[in-house]
Amino acid sequence: MNALECIYKRRSIRKFSDAPVEDALVEELLRAAMAAPSAMNLKPWRFVVVRDSERLERLRKVMPFGKMDAGTAISVCGDLRSGRRIVSENFWQQDCSAATENLLIAASALGLGAVWCGVTPLARLQKAVSAVLELPERVIPLNVVLLGYPAEEKPARTQYDPALVSLDSFGTRWEKGNS
Ligand SMILES: Cc1cc2nc3c(=O)[nH]c(=O)nc-3n(C[C@H](O)[C@H](O)[C@H](O)COP(=O)(O)O)c2cc1C
Repeated sequence: MNALECIYKRRSIRKFSDAPVEDALVEELLRAAMAAPSAMNLKPWRFVVVRDSERLERLRKVMPFGKMDAGTAISVCGDLRSGRRIVSENFWQQDCSAATENLLIAASALGLGAVWCGVTPLARLQKAVSAVLELPERVIPLNVVLLGYPAEEKPARTQYDPALVSLDSFGTRWEKGNS
């Protein structure tokens, strides 16, 4: 599968089989995540892989839209003290989002299913997830990615809409074949 096919194939998968995801695949996902671009290359991302069924249950309990029954969760978190304060405090969400998207695309390329469940910027949810994962204060959970072998199929797609694109100045139509 080429890179563009992987991008279109990535969909939010919310139903999972009981088959456990092998450690080697989890590591491959983390490798892909850590290949993401990062402001000043500070790499503020931290990852908490959750495999323990009791801890997964506790996560499900606190996540209003993350109650899917997945055997593995990876929380992508930002460390606010990962380097120059002004950079890490302002860019960590972008860096961690880039890492998350890499992870999701890698999951679909490896035949896994995954869904990004948002945590930041919801303060109460951040607090609840931080407590379950025993995060130190300087580490903030951006999300919890639930993953496993998929038990549902979704078609590959783009949601391309030229009406959302301007040429040179906002509101000027982008037409196919402009150049
Ligand atoms: C920041 C963010 C937060 C999200 N939070 C949730 C969530 O809590 N629960 C969930 O089921 N899906 C969540 N999603 C997945 C979106 O619902 C999904 O990406 C969107 O419906 C498009 O579908 P697709 O991923 O299949 O392309 C989230 C996605 C993003 C980017």
